[in-house]
Amino acid sequence: MKRTHHCNELRPEHAGQSVTLSGWVHSRRDLGGVLFIDVRDREGRTQTVFDPSDLSAELFEAATHLHSESVVEISGKVRLRPGETENAKIATGMVEVMVQSMTVLNAADVLPFPVDDPEIAAKVNEELRLQYRYLDLRRPELMRNIRLRSRIATAARVHMEAQGFLEIETPTLFKSTPEGAREFLVPSRVHPGEFYALPQSPQQYKQILMASGVEKYFQLARCYRDEDLRADRQPEFTQVDIEASFFEREDIYALIEGLLKRIWKVALDQEIQTPFKRISFEEAMNRFGIDKPDARFGMEIVDMTDDFKESQFKVFSGVVGKGGVVKALNAKGLACVTQGQMETMTNFAISHGAKGLAYIKVENGEWKSPIVKFFSEAEKEALKSKLAIEEGDLILFAADQWLTACEILGRIRLYAADVLKQQGKLVIDPSVFEFLWVIEFPLLAFDKEMNRWYSSHHPFTAPVAEDVDFLVSDPKRVRGQHYDIVVNGVELGGGSIRIHQPDVQRAVFKDVLQLDDETIKSRFGYMLEAFRYGCPPHGGIALGFDRLIALLCGTESIRDVIAFPKTAKGTDLMAQSPAPVEARQLRDLHIQTRVPQKKESAPVEKEA
Ligand code: AMO
Ligand code: AMP
Repeated sequence: MKRTHHCNELRPEHAGQSVTLSGWVHSRRDLGGVLFIDVRDREGRTQTVFDPSDLSAELFEAATHLHSESVVEISGKVRLRPGETENAKIATGMVEVMVQSMTVLNAADVLPFPVDDPEIAAKVNEELRLQYRYLDLRRPELMRNIRLRSRIATAARVHMEAQGFLEIETPTLFKSTPEGAREFLVPSRVHPGEFYALPQSPQQYKQILMASGVEKYFQLARCYRDEDLRADRQPEFTQVDIEASFFEREDIYALIEGLLKRIWKVALDQEIQTPFKRISFEEAMNRFGIDKPDARFGMEIVDMTDDFKESQFKVFSGVVGKGGVVKALNAKGLACVTQGQMETMTNFAISHGAKGLAYIKVENGEWKSPIVKFFSEAEKEALKSKLAIEEGDLILFAADQWLTACEILGRIRLYAADVLKQQGKLVIDPSVFEFLWVIEFPLLAFDKEMNRWYSSHHPFTAPVAEDVDFLVSDPKRVRGQHYDIVVNGVELGGGSIRIHQPDVQRAVFKDVLQLDDETIKSRFGYMLEAFRYGCPPHGGIALGFDRLIALLCGTESIRDVIAFPKTAKGTDLMAQSPAPVEARQLRDLHIQTRVPQKKESAPVEKEA
């Protein structure tokens, strides 16, 4: 007997046919001595009927003792369900299979949690679900995500191939280039004391591929970063990684718009509008206080610097006097804010270095605020008109240096939106996707602690042509040819046009980033050399593939779209990694650990 149909296939026109289904025992009901078992496979489920009057006592007995999730093969005859028992909720709900024979391929034990009821399953604690990931993956919701991921990977490959891109695998045993995130190191057995590093991205290899004459490269690339994990960050993740020669920014925008258009069509049957809107980093910060704006709702930040520069309220005028700004935000309808919510917002401000968070609550026609008494009539008028203040509003202020003030209100804007969403005052249509290119980032940012400039994106990003001359004299004003693609407040991807001239790249390393010759040579010598032998101008981008799938699946956590994700602490609860290794392995790798060993791995310490 071999499976003749999958469990989402049978329809009324199959009535009378003999079929064989293979799958899992999904649910079981005993109605007046007749047993109904839903058999489920990857595609769906079908009701089978065990009628004792048609079956051997032995077979019927076996069926009554089957645990959920046992794997079975069932043969029988399809029939139309009696009218009142039709189930419109499932695709096979018009029919059922009258069982004639059954083979139990594998009897399941009692499960650690049920997988047949989505409501119960969703309440099971996530750690237990991660420990039994293979059971969790049987839930249709997760399986749907994993299948969509596969479909989109294929769609991306087909699209890129059609655009003339070659898929090329680059090494995952790379070397340490401690510029960006912390890396995972892999000790070499053959070279004592030396290490590979797992790549944070294939950045350097893909640029070398341009020097190799590949012209158009892409890869669904595995990347590794040892950083603090969050819902949208995993220690290993996948990028749709792209690089192309003779491409300028506009070519990249068009390529990615085409790719995303295709993906949204395949995944959601949605026509997205291209070209996407573009917004400069400066405008994004001014309006949204963040470089990955969620532009699906308003509540934009408003500049009040000029209005308060001579204010009696010294907190504001004092900041302006020192070159700072006064920014305000109208959290529409949030005058009902609780003490706790107000504290949370104030803490955002304080954690950014502000002394507090000035506010006005508009209630019963009154402006309730500890600071309004210091405001002149003109200042109040300016607030009223610029912020369109109405009854029930909550106005929040940040007075600080420009970037800090924007960032504070940016965080508060998102928090306020969450509160308003919970209260049903802000409704966001989940089928709307607001795509934005964020462009004209500053090439460099200043690290106060280290007292030096560092690359906002990475050191290979080319400066905007008209700013090149200021690289050393005025690094702050140099804009990079860097772009991020942002969707609904999620940074989906980022990239840049690269430096391809060896002298400019060397100047960035040496004069701007202040790396010494030795470091430049050991880390990037081969790149600088490759640039000398005919490297075309080039640029690229990487899309976070996990984030892309999460957006398409409507989930906030990329764990829901990765077959075997890690926890926030970077562990795999199912396979139980990371794990201690044997002393012999460490010895072969010339490694001695200084960590006090746990009891069970005591021999490691003794011998290592
Ligand atoms: P970047 O570091 O911006 O650029 O990464 C590109 C995209 O990868 C995704 N991403 C992540 N996804 C899940 N977990 C993580 N820990 C994680 N870190 C990043 C994000 C991000 O936008 N080499 C450059 C690209 C280039 O210049 O071409 C790079 O890696 O969606
Ligand atoms: P103070 O005069 O320092 O007590 O501050 C008066 C009000 O302004 C308080 O409500 C503070 O929370 C608020 N405040 C103080 N510093 C700032 C700032 N940099 N930006 C916005 N509000 C502030």
